Amino acid sequence: MNLNERVLAVEAEIAAASAVGADAAESFRVTMLGRNGKVTVLLDELKQVPPEEKRIWGQRLNQLKHAARLRWEELKATVEALPPVPTGTVDLTRPALREPVGSLHPISLVRQRITGIFSRLGYTVSQGPEVEDDHHNFGALNFPPDHPARDMQDTFFVQGIEGPGAGDGWALRTHTSSVQVRVMEQGKPPIRTISPGRVYRNEAISARAHCMFHQVEGLYVDKDVSFAELKGTLDHFVKTLFGPGSAIRLRPSYFPFTEPSAEVDMSCTLCNGEGCTVCKHSGWVEIMGCGMVDPAVLGNCGIDPAVYSGFAFGMGVERIAQLIYRVPDLRLYWENDVRFLEQFADGAFRS
Ligand code: PHE
Repeated sequence: MNLNERVLAVEAEIAAASAVGADAAESFRVTMLGRNGKVTVLLDELKQVPPEEKRIWGQRLNQLKHAARLRWEELKATVEALPPVPTGTVDLTRPALREPVGSLHPISLVRQRITGIFSRLGYTVSQGPEVEDDHHNFGALNFPPDHPARDMQDTFFVQGIEGPGAGDGWALRTHTSSVQVRVMEQGKPPIRTISPGRVYRNEAISARAHCMFHQVEGLYVDKDVSFAELKGTLDHFVKTLFGPGSAIRLRPSYFPFTEPSAEVDMSCTLCNGEGCTVCKHSGWVEIMGCGMVDPAVLGNCGIDPAVYSGFAFGMGVERIAQLIYRVPDLRLYWENDVRFLEQFADGAFRS
């Protein structure tokens, strides 16, 4: 190989030098620029070059040296940026470190279980907007204009809505019954749907209350729908979610949009009905409201109450999740504390 070929070969080697290994930069320096390094040896050969070629070869070899220096600096910087290589022997049999994986939020897990149970009964899932007008959240549901639920105490009103619907008393929905109004207005019976979603109420935040929470409400409208079917559906729901040993009981109640209305209690999962602080020593915990859809509501939504009847129910997801996972404080659901959330990472279902 003549001098020119050897310079070209070393140039290629400089360009191709790899930064793999902790000593990559240092071994490059020794190989190229050390006392017997390839660049050093070439520079030594300048002495043997005929005098008339010295200037041109001098320049060429100095460039080569400069390129080697630059490459060395680059390799040093690359190697320094790498994470430290562990010392000692590498145990190839050791299990790999577990990558932290994300998980579904407990509220999502419980919502999925609830919707799963009703899907298998033939219910569809309906969604609607979180910012609602007065008609869908209250008016169509028979809330009289002076009903306390419309009061500033309970409802977050939204200002500044422009365009169509402006001035219609927009608010953050206080329940997902608003979605049921939309479904009835848009569809024809038979209707079997549930509406999961986030709702808002102007409550002081504490261990037992929050200004945002999640509901799943259900609606069934058809010919000859009876209260017995409502009760049977809810009993099936509770037994599927909490086990065949659980029971429900209904207490008369009042909602503007259902008649008759009831509050649903279930046997306390925490003490098996023996009495504890969660059930206030009664053995029962309230889990939802329900009732037969008021004929006036059917009429408001364009469904003939002389032909059709229906039932509706609505539950708070946080409350159900609390009974499943024994979460003592509602605020934990919103704090995003990883120590809380990672307990659900494998979808573990503690009951
Ligand atoms: N919408 C009611 C609430 O938010 C729950 C409910 C739904 C009650 C359907 C009866 C029937 O409290």
